[in-house]
Parts: sequence; structure tokens; C-alpha cells
Amino acid sequence: MDTELATMRAVRGHRRGGPERLKYEVAPRPAPAADEVLVAVRSAAITSGELAWDATWTNSLDGTGSLRLPIVPAKEVSGQVVEAGSAVHDLHPGDEVFGLIPFTQDGAAAEFTAVPAAVLAAKPPSLDHDGAAALALPGLTAWQGLVRHAGLTPGDTVLVHGAAGGVGSMAVQIAVALGGKVIATAAGQDAEFVRALGAERVIDYTAQPFEDAVADVGVVFDAVGGDTQARSWHVLRSGGTLVSIVSPPGPSPSPDTHGVFFVVEPDRAGLIALSELVESGRLTPYVDRVVPLQDTAGAYAALEREHRRGKIVLRVS
Ligand SMILES: NC(=O)c1ccc[n+]([C@@H]2O[C@H](COP(=O)([O-])OP(=O)(O)OC[C@H]3O[C@@H](n4cnc5c(N)ncnc54)[C@H](OP(=O)(O)O)[C@@H]3O)[C@@H](O)[C@H]2O)c1
Repeated sequence: MDTELATMRAVRGHRRGGPERLKYEVAPRPAPAADEVLVAVRSAAITSGELAWDATWTNSLDGTGSLRLPIVPAKEVSGQVVEAGSAVHDLHPGDEVFGLIPFTQDGAAAEFTAVPAAVLAAKPPSLDHDGAAALALPGLTAWQGLVRHAGLTPGDTVLVHGAAGGVGSMAVQIAVALGGKVIATAAGQDAEFVRALGAERVIDYTAQPFEDAVADVGVVFDAVGGDTQARSWHVLRSGGTLVSIVSPPGPSPSPDTHGVFFVVEPDRAGLIALSELVESGRLTPYVDRVVPLQDTAGAYAALEREHRRGKIVLRVS
């Protein structure tokens, strides 16, 4: 292979740390394993906290595995298959795909990424690559949280914390699509945005303790953590569930309520369900801004300090 075909432009971290560790550089182009496809990345999306996760830098979700350096961040991808591994029969060069890359593998802040075929699905036709990249991780997180972990049933009241954010904006829409009645917490400036997503009520978390205004909730979807999570027990009805994506809830103060923390998993069936919601007009991913690949480090820094609605997307090509 000539040098140009063997390399690509990528953002990589050579030492564990924050955005300051990321370098835009020329890197070897990955070769797909038998069960993988090589994807020409069109857009990638990033998530706050990602550079602090053990799985971003090691071979395990909990950090017990060995360091994996250098790493390519950004696990949310949309692009086009350019090569299929020898054992892949359901994806072909030219297919437009999106998905969540396993956390312990290199990500999509690069011109190419090798991804297990089983975790990719066809890009929703009505979305461009920016929208599809923005959908993958927050959509799957909200879907798995509400369906698999909370067992949401139609008519349930759902309280979504962090409803204007990447995951929260998906959770509001998916809960509504599943027949839930949504109450949301968000900053006052985001109240109209969150109402437009389908929330029946929006509580400004900067102005009022939500527990003064909410009671008898079937499901709390917690994308904020900390004190917000701890105070959430008080608003659950008997039999209610507190689902957190930020940290494991402490012990339930009541035998009738329970808490669960989970980490989203790559999931083709979930992507297909999300795609159906998008195509039926019930789910829209929100892109706050699109930045070029070479500005990835700045984009990660912005995630931690700037107000946003929805996702930051890296435009790769
Ligand atoms: N376990 C998993 O599988 C998983 C998956 C995805 C994400 N996560 C984690 O989940 C968290 C949320 O992710 P994200 O991508 O949705 O983040 P995000 O886009 O930054 O959204 C967080 C939202 O929470 C709002 N917020 C902050 N404090 C609040 C409060 N006290 N009450 C209500 N809302 C509040 C923020 O609003 P302001 O702009 O007003 O601050 C922002 O809109 C992050 O910690 C991320 O690492 C975990």
C-alpha cells in the first residue's frame, strides 16, 4: 500500500488527560478485522466526561485493563463503509451507517475507523451525517435507560433531569413517543426548547427545587447526578425507578423504590428502533454546533464550560 493510502488524518491522545492531550496528526489507517468494517467517517460526535472515562484510555470499562495508547476519541460515528472484513456479510462498501463504537476501541475523530459490523445500522435516510452522529450515543442511552432499565409503560410520569442536554433532549422525546408524560428540569433559558421536545412541564433548576413541584413520578431519568440525583428519591411513587447515567444511586430510602446506574451499550437493534422513531417524525437529534476535525480539542474543552442545546459534532469530511 502506498504511504497515502496507509495513513489518515486523526485526532489522538498519546498520554491520558483532558483536551490539552489531543493532537491533530497523521496516523496509520486502521485495517478492519474479520468481523469489522472500515468506515470513512463523515461526522463524529462527542460527549462531556468522555476524556475522563477509563474506557477511553484502557482496555476495560472500569480502568483495570492496560492503557491503550495512543487513542482516538469520539465513539459516535456516521459515515460510509469502504471495506468489509472477511466475515461481514450484511454490510457492503458504499453503505451509509451510524452507530456507537465500543468504548474500549478507537473512535471516530479520524478520517477512518474500524468498527464491529454488528454495532452499526443503516443511517436514517432523513438525517444527514451530522444528525446521525448526534443521534447514536444519546439516543441509545435514553432508549436503553427508559426501555430496558426503567421498563417505562404508557401513562407513566417521567421526570427527566438535564433535559436540554445531549441525552436529556433524547430522553424527553423518547419518553413521549413511548406514551410517557414528561416533566423536565432545565435552565430557564432552555424551557421553551424543552417544551417543544414534548415536556408537559419544565422546572427551572436555577429557580426552584424540583421536589417542591413534583410528586408521584414513575421514572426519574437522571443525566445530572450529585445532589439532583440524591433529592430525586423523594419524588418517586411506590414502585418507581431512579435511572442514572451519571453515577450509581445510593441505597433507596424506601423498600418500594429502586435505583439503577448503567453504561450505554453498542446496540444495533436499538439503533434501528431510534431510526424508526426519526423516520416517523417522533425523534429529532439536536446539533448545537459543528466544528472541523482539527478543532476537536477545543470542542472537548467547550463541552465542559459552555452552555449548549444538544450535541457538538465533528465534521470529518
Ligand atoms: N452512563 C452512560 O452510558 C452515559 C451516556 C452518555 C452520557 N453520560 C453522562 O451523562 C451526563 C450527561 O451527558 P450529556 O451528553 O447529556 O451532557 P450535556 O449535553 O452537557 O447535558 C447536561 C445538561 O444538564 C443540564 N444541567 C446541569 N445542571 C443541572 C441541574 N442541576 N438540573 C437540571 N439540569 C442541569 C445542563 O444545563 P446547563 O447548560 O444549564 O448547565 C445540560 O443541559 C454526562 O455526565 C455524561 O458523561 C453517561
